[in-house]
Amino acid sequence: MTLQEKAAMVVGANTVALDPVNGEIIGAQARKVPGAAGQTQAIPRLGIPSIVLADGPMGVRIDPTRPGTEQTFHATKFPSPNVLASTWDTELVNKVGSATADELKAYGIDLLLAPGMNIQSYLLNGRNYEYFSEDPLVTGIMTSEFVNGVQDKGVGTTIKHFAAYNQRTLNNGNMNVSQRALREIYLKGFEIAVKESDPWAVMDSYNAINGTYATENKDLLTSVLREDWGFKGFTMTDWENGNNRDIVKQVVAGTDLFMPGNLNQINRIINAVKDGSLDEKYLDRNIKSILTIVVQTPTFKGHEATNTPDLEAGAKLARQAAADGMVLLKNEEKALPIDNDVSVSLFGTPNIEKMTGGRGSALVYAPYQVGFPEGLQNAGLQINEELLGKYETYVEELRATDEYKQTPGNFFVSTFPTLPEMDVKEDAVAAAKNTDVGIIVLSSEFGTYGSDRSKGDFYLSESKRKMIDDVSKAYHAEGKPVIAVLNVEGPLETASWEDKVDGILLGWQPGQELGNSVADVLTGKVNPSGKLAQTFPVDYADLPYADRYPGENNEFTYEEDIYVGYRYNSTFGLKPAYEFGYGLSYTTFDYENVRVNRNGQIKDKMTVFATVENTGDVAGREAVQVYVSAPDGKLEKPELELKAFAKTNELRPGKKENLTFDLDLKDLASFDEEKSAWLVEKGTYEVLVGASSTDIRGAASFKVDKDIVVETVNDVLAPQVEINKLSKLNE
Ligand code: BGC
Repeated sequence: MTLQEKAAMVVGANTVALDPVNGEIIGAQARKVPGAAGQTQAIPRLGIPSIVLADGPMGVRIDPTRPGTEQTFHATKFPSPNVLASTWDTELVNKVGSATADELKAYGIDLLLAPGMNIQSYLLNGRNYEYFSEDPLVTGIMTSEFVNGVQDKGVGTTIKHFAAYNQRTLNNGNMNVSQRALREIYLKGFEIAVKESDPWAVMDSYNAINGTYATENKDLLTSVLREDWGFKGFTMTDWENGNNRDIVKQVVAGTDLFMPGNLNQINRIINAVKDGSLDEKYLDRNIKSILTIVVQTPTFKGHEATNTPDLEAGAKLARQAAADGMVLLKNEEKALPIDNDVSVSLFGTPNIEKMTGGRGSALVYAPYQVGFPEGLQNAGLQINEELLGKYETYVEELRATDEYKQTPGNFFVSTFPTLPEMDVKEDAVAAAKNTDVGIIVLSSEFGTYGSDRSKGDFYLSESKRKMIDDVSKAYHAEGKPVIAVLNVEGPLETASWEDKVDGILLGWQPGQELGNSVADVLTGKVNPSGKLAQTFPVDYADLPYADRYPGENNEFTYEEDIYVGYRYNSTFGLKPAYEFGYGLSYTTFDYENVRVNRNGQIKDKMTVFATVENTGDVAGREAVQVYVSAPDGKLEKPELELKAFAKTNELRPGKKENLTFDLDLKDLASFDEEKSAWLVEKGTYEVLVGASSTDIRGAASFKVDKDIVVETVNDVLAPQVEINKLSKLNE
């Protein structure tokens, strides 16, 4: 390769292309797949094709139409990672990956820019729904399954955003975080994914970690990612403007590909090599990483796009995954499921807005989206048409105003600023007389693509509270039930109003089959088996960072350290509204025979056993969680940490399933900053098998006789400032 070709190879070809014959920059290259996020530079002289990269976390994001043809180019809008995590079903997540791969191939795409796998450590992060969980194990395992599902079909994934990208306000800000919190919480999921699934690519995050931008961070991109973990693919920047980072530092640090790429970057690389500030060997190294992947791509192998994905198969799977990810939060007096022939009234403006989820890079142009009325009607329920008509008019009128104008498809603007609710006091009284069940659909405001949510978005507005009061009073006066469906992408305040309704279903914003999936669960066609992969706090003020987030002066410090989510609640005795791992079913399960092998001693591996029995009267599945409570020693430990999980098969009433969970020493280790090593400390370990993080159903214990250093890693990424870490010792 000539120097120019080399420089062009590491800079995305989104806006510029290099004429390989004349060696000149020739301006915009036609985009191979319209609407895809980017592509690499082709060098035909050397037989190197341009590969195509497309978002994202809810399915393939490309333009649905193209100039000059009537044909459409839709893709399945699958549930987002937070919904997939709530299924606790690794096989299902693998299937969603596999189905996504089929669509990627059909559209001639080589690399998916997903899954997102940052930790949902901060409630208001506007992009949390693109990620799986507040827990690194759930994140790592679900990511690995998804990646394997995609890559087994010969298409690539890009795990993102590496790393500690946990807020949108200080998108490019500096995140101060301890080495231990990095290794145990923020890097852990990435470590699992790299080791278990070999993703083709990693996307660096916009932010800095302990004073160095991720893309300029050799500790992160080389010492940790490649040396400690053995990553073999290539890294790319996020879609940065590219001009305000040190390009030499980035190349040397191990940022292989600059996306989306601009001419200035090519010139800066060429000049840096010429003036001696960049050793060409780094460029060669990075190009090798990129080409190692390029030769595995569908494009390199001559695969041609058909542009005819199987959208029916996608829809079927999207519907199942969405229903399986929904979480039944409350079910008084068996208010749910409801029979298929009952009549229902739908309240709340979101009921007609089809809030299926996804903004910005997570937007997917689905062939259609199923709203609530349609989904419930498909299931045979009778809808209160008069009320529906009123809502349609009300919403249409408000949406026509400047204040509430909708901007569907606009990349950066929120698609759905939520509306004030209409006054339904009188309608509710009539509806309660004429229909059997009242269903209230609730949503909350979310940030635009470019921003975080605000504190107020966690709470319901006054008009929503009034609606809940009016509807529940009216229905309860008739002795009829009221169900709330949360059509949200993250936790919402529930503690102050949940006693007013009989049932609460967390329906999420789960992709194109929204209405059908909700109806499947409400009517019992699907017995809910989803459980929370994040904590629902009682109040925003309960969060350990409530008075500090999102930081200031472009700087934020992770003072709660390792105490993220349930690790915080369990250790510091705080009761959540709904805890991590929580979710009800239409049946009940008993746990028995919880034990560990090896006579209570551990050498290198151990197995945990549990038996789960369906003790109710309908078939169902149970997500079983294995937590470990490790002894405090030199290192303090959270009260408990998730170490394994599994979902039973569908168990008929009275049926049992025996489950086994393998743990090795690394699973039990904590990160010792002094030694830069994973350490298992001596003492007694409790193994807690539960239906949630607070609903522990069986326990066993084992002893470790002496401290064991499991693995020593590069001593890197130390904070540059003193961090006032939350600690059990200070409380
Ligand atoms: C987002 C990435 C996305 C990329 C390409 C960026 O702004 O942060 O997640 O993959 O755009 O669309």
